[in-house]
Order: sequence, then C-alpha cells, then structure tokens
Amino acid sequence: MADLRRVMSAFATGVTVITVSGDQPGGMTANAFCSVSLDPPLALCCVSRESRLHEALSADGRFAVSVLNADQEHVARHFADHARPHGWAQFDALEWFPGPHTGAPLLTGALGWLECEVAQEVPAGDHSVFIGGVLDAVRGADLPALVFLDGAFQKSSRASPGLGEAPAPRRPPGGVRGRDRPAAVGAAGRGNTWSTGTRHFPDG
Ligand SMILES: Cc1cc2nc3c(=O)[nH]c(=O)nc-3n(C[C@H](O)[C@H](O)[C@H](O)COP(=O)(O)O)c2cc1C
Repeated sequence: MADLRRVMSAFATGVTVITVSGDQPGGMTANAFCSVSLDPPLALCCVSRESRLHEALSADGRFAVSVLNADQEHVARHFADHARPHGWAQFDALEWFPGPHTGAPLLTGALGWLECEVAQEVPAGDHSVFIGGVLDAVRGADLPALVFLDGAFQKSSRASPGLGEAPAPRRPPGGVRGRDRPAAVGAAGRGNTWSTGTRHFPDG
C-alpha cells in the first residue's frame, strides 16, 4: 500500500541489527524495533517471514540487538544485503563479541545492546512480531545515532549520552561461547579486544 509506505517513511527510526546464535547464526538489519514494557522489561522486533533470520530466531528463541551509531551505515547495508554470506561468515569482516546471555553477536561500536529471550512470537501478515523479555540492556559508545528516514540513512545531529570515552579493551568472560567454529569469531574476538567494556562484562 503506497500511502502506508509514504507515511511510515516519514517516521524517523534508529537502525538496529538483530542477531541470533544457535544452529543458524545470523544477523539482519531492522528498524521495526521498539520498547514494549519496562515492568516486566520487554522489547519487540518485526521480522519478515521470508528472511533467514525468521526461522533462526523461531528456532533459537533468543536474540540480541545492536543499536547502530551514525558511522555504521555500512553495517546496516551489509545485514540488509540478501547476498551476504550465510552463518558465522557474515560476521567475518566485523568486530563483535558474543552476548553473555545469548551467545548472539553484539556489534562493536554500537550505541547499546539488548539481549532477549522470546516471550511471544505473533504471526502478523508477512512478518512475525517477536516480543522478547529483556535479559540485559547495556549502553555503549557516546556517538551520534544512525537514523532511517524517507528511505535513506541519516545521522543524528548530536551524540546521545552513552559511556563517554571508549573503555579499556576487555576479554570476553569464559572466552568464545556458543559456537562450534571458533575460527569464525570476529576481529574483536580474535584479538581479544573489546571496545565495549561495561558493568556486565567483567575481565575474563
Ligand atoms: C533500514 C532498514 C531497515 C529494515 N528493517 C527491517 C525490519 O524491521 N524487519 C525486516 O524483516 N526486514 C527489515 N529490513 C530488510 C532486511 O534487512 C533485509 O531484507 C534482509 O536482507 C533480510 O534478510 P535475508 O537476506 O536473510 O532475507 C530492513 C532493511 C533496511 C535497509
């Protein structure tokens, strides 16, 4: 419906990458993402039934969300490109680290991350709405946000107050988890350098 598209394109959103681990690891760019409830903490994302992520998310029942910063347009384009590699290989060119609760990739440099457990999967037309119970929510870099408006990527004009200075590199607790292909760990994992470092990720 053209009018629906036109109206929705006037609604400025942030841009996220939804990721899953499990048997079908992957990620997908999504802006149909929002907070649902604070008590209990719930967030939702709408995922096309035709996307690879749909089956993976349904099967694994857990997902992570990375909220992209203004300089991560290339990351958004990568995870919106149907021609990207399958499985862990799609993360090879990126820095990331495994979410401690889900094992799903959290993208380095993001403005924040959520890890969620699917509480409800609601079929809705050509998409499904995945409502996730939030297991953890962590703020990241203090940078402008990537914004999607009028069908184009834009940058927010100011940084949202995040963690400020990039924290010191850290090691993932317990090393690499949740995958059977350690060689597929992203650059952050390979070099043991985390540019995130938050209260939730103690030194390993
Ligand atoms: C800015 C942006 C936002 C998007 N938001 C969503 C979304 O919320 N849900 C969705 O299913 N697809 C969304 N897409 C489309 C998917 O990212 C894209 O179709 C992706 O290639 C689907 O995964 P697949 O290649 O495994 O099919 C978005 C794409 C862009 C560029």
